[in-house]
Amino acid sequence: MSNSAIYEPISNEIGYKSFKLGSFTFHRDEYFVYIEWPTKNGRMTHYISADAFLRAMMRDVAWGFFYYQVNFDHVFGTNNLYGKVEMFAGSFNETYTSQGLNLTETYETPEIMAVFKAILADWTNEGFDPFAAPRETGIAWMGRKNGDNAAAIGRDRETCKRMVGLPGDAPLRSDDRGYPVNPAFADVPQEAPEIHAAPGYEGRVFAINLFAYLSRSDVTWNPSISSVVKTNLFCPTTEEYILPIKHGNDRVEWFLQLSDAINWEIEDKTTGRPRAKVIMKPGDIASMPADIRHQGFAAKRAMLLVWENANPKVVELHNTGAIPPYPVAF
Ligand code: PHB
Ligand code: FE
Repeated sequence: MSNSAIYEPISNEIGYKSFKLGSFTFHRDEYFVYIEWPTKNGRMTHYISADAFLRAMMRDVAWGFFYYQVNFDHVFGTNNLYGKVEMFAGSFNETYTSQGLNLTETYETPEIMAVFKAILADWTNEGFDPFAAPRETGIAWMGRKNGDNAAAIGRDRETCKRMVGLPGDAPLRSDDRGYPVNPAFADVPQEAPEIHAAPGYEGRVFAINLFAYLSRSDVTWNPSISSVVKTNLFCPTTEEYILPIKHGNDRVEWFLQLSDAINWEIEDKTTGRPRAKVIMKPGDIASMPADIRHQGFAAKRAMLLVWENANPKVVELHNTGAIPPYPVAF
C-alpha cells in the first residue's frame, strides 16, 4: 500500500489509524466508522457501526468486489467494473442524488484493494472475526484498538484439484481438517453416501453429504463454489444474523433454501426504494432479478444454495436491455 493512503499515520488517541482514498477519508472510534467526502455544501460525514462496516469490508475484500455492487448500507459502497472499482457515497440513494450530495470515484482495483485491506487489518481487534455470527464472535469489535486478527481476515479459500474426497484432493470429511459441527447444526446427519462405482470408474466417481459438509462451515454469508459446469456455479453457504452487504447484481441469480429460513429485503438497485420482501423456507426457490439490491436476515443458522451465472457476457446484455432483468416472463 502506498503511504499516501494513510491519512494520519499517527494513530488517534484510542489507537486506530485514519485512511484516505481519493477524496474520501475514513476514521474509526470505539463504536463507529466515519466516512467523509466533499460536497457542494462542504464535507459530508456518514456514520456506520464499526462491526457492520468491518463485516461488509471483509466480504468486499474476500470476494474481490464481487458481482457489480456491494452496498455497506444505504449510502456507502463499491461497484466492480472488473479491472477498476467505483467507490460511492449516496450515489444509489435518491435522497442524496436528488440534492447532489453524492460522490462516485473510480480507482484501479489493486489501489482500492490495498487501502481496504489496510483498513480491515488496522480496525479489526483481537477476537473479532468478521465472518462469524455475533453469537460466536461477541463484542470484541468495540472499544479502543486491541491487537488484531490476521488469521480470521487472512483466511484463504480451500481449493479443490479434482473433487473433495477423491484421491489426490482434500480429505472428504472437514472434521479431518479440524472443523467441528457448528452447535446450530448439531441435528444434521453426518452419514456419507454409499458409492457403487461401475468397474473401471473406481476413484473417478464420488459423492459427498453436502449437509454434513456445510454443518461444519466456520463462516457465515460467504458462499463456496461446490460445482462448476461451464459458467454455471453452485455456491452453497451458511447464514446467520444479517448479510453484511446489500448486493446489487449485474445478472440474475437464484436462491435455493436448503434449511431453516431467510427473510430477504429487496430494493431498487438505483434508488434504494423498497420493492419486495421474500420469506424463504426450506425447499423454496427464488430468482433475484438483475435490477435489484437485496439483503438477507437469518434468525437461526441456515443453509442456502446460491446459483450464479458467471458468464461475463450477460452483464452487457442486461446493460443494453437486450435481455430482461428477470429470468422468466409469466
Ligand atoms: C448475495 O448477495 O446474493 C449473497 C451473498 C452472500 C451470501 C448469500 C447471498 O452468503
Ligand atoms: Fe446477490
